[in-house]
Amino acid sequence: MRITMIGSGYVGLVSGVCFADFGHDVICVDKDLSKIEALREGRIPIYEPGLEQLVAENTSTGRLSFSTDVGESVRSADVVFIAVGTPSRRGDGHADLSYVYAAAREIATYVEGFTVIVTKSTVPVGTGDEVERIMRETNPAADVAVVSNPEFLREGAAIEDFKRPDRIVVGLNDDRARETMTEVYRPLYLNQAPLVFTTRRTSELIKYAANAFLAMKITFINEIADLCERVDANVQDVSRGIGLDGRIGSKFLHAGPGYGGSCFPKDTLALAKTAQDYDAPMRLIETTISINDNRKRAMGRKVISAVGGDIRGKKIAILGLTFKPNTDDMRDSPAIAVIQTLQDNGAQVVGYDPEGMENARKVIENIEYASGPYEAAAGADALVIVTEWNQFRALDFSRLKQSMRAPILIDLRNIYRSDEVRKHGFTYTGIGTNL
Ligand code: UGA
Repeated sequence: MRITMIGSGYVGLVSGVCFADFGHDVICVDKDLSKIEALREGRIPIYEPGLEQLVAENTSTGRLSFSTDVGESVRSADVVFIAVGTPSRRGDGHADLSYVYAAAREIATYVEGFTVIVTKSTVPVGTGDEVERIMRETNPAADVAVVSNPEFLREGAAIEDFKRPDRIVVGLNDDRARETMTEVYRPLYLNQAPLVFTTRRTSELIKYAANAFLAMKITFINEIADLCERVDANVQDVSRGIGLDGRIGSKFLHAGPGYGGSCFPKDTLALAKTAQDYDAPMRLIETTISINDNRKRAMGRKVISAVGGDIRGKKIAILGLTFKPNTDDMRDSPAIAVIQTLQDNGAQVVGYDPEGMENARKVIENIEYASGPYEAAAGADALVIVTEWNQFRALDFSRLKQSMRAPILIDLRNIYRSDEVRKHGFTYTGIGTNL
């Protein structure tokens, strides 16, 4: 199959390189010339484990190439994926579809022969209909079938998720497109990944329903964590105790400082807006959004109380700035609100993150950046773990105690057990436990 990927951001790049790895011929297109030039030289614009090597392997075989030329890339393609951004629209929180529609218009002017157009970007219900309408209006002679094929990969585990998906969802209403999509995903299909065929609108909704459900699940356990702290229960045991029930499932039940990232905050908001527009409001999701928003600042207050209530002039060290480990993505990271709350209350903040500091500098002001966890902790009145990077999981507490002004650990990801930290003379505060 000859596949063209319009948009070489997270989803476009990872999907493109994985399709090439399956044996398809893939061109990843982007308007940003500097990005394409960097990719041609093997430089990857995002931090994602394994991606650089996979790009190198597939460019060297010639199956993967990069281009800024939409026309040439589209003309030669059997399948064109639209994988451009759908950010929150300023003002109303709906998904901004202008990049998707611009891509549809441009693709329509160049298609030759039967071409399957696949929306991989996360788009609200009905977007596929509009993409099809735009394409037919732009080029009435174009022989195209418009398909929805949402992506479920997670940052930090993107390649693994793409190659071993729980399912592949394809929404379409055209038999030729069904054949093409089966061919595109044949390597996964043969690997037993279930291929769920449905209508285009249903497929679009599945993506939002999945993300909203996961966001709700996290928010549920976060509220249980708060209750655990009031009633002397332990949230990790609650998670295990309920997660072993196959109907509930153990994943996405880790209590923490609230979900962040480029997807859950944006997609829950867009779903809530769509639901309101169709007069079917989703109050569970609306409430999830507001609980999660409030939680991030509440985590800042939790730190303040763990330090004794007054942090004016105190130095607080933050370990982990990105919204989750194994990414350099700072979008909607809980660290931003935690740090802001600490600063508003007069603290001086020093932060460290293994990959996120370059992006952090763009969104967090007036903090000092350290070169490692021990450098961040030196002279600090408290150490706060906000993101559970592996390199924070085995800290040397004797070393930390010697250099910190006060031995206080606030572990917003529960990566330590209180007893192992307390035996080094530390005060420990976790999430959803008083132990
Ligand atoms: C999420 C979904 O998990 C993917 O399936 C989806 O494809 C993607 O959005 C998307 O729409 O593109 P991602 O945002 O990369 O993936 O990261 P997650 O691993 O889902 O984590 C999201 C947030 O939830 C993070 O802030 C994480 O720390 C938090 N989280 C996750 C918890 O607080 N507790 C958990 O148990 C799990």
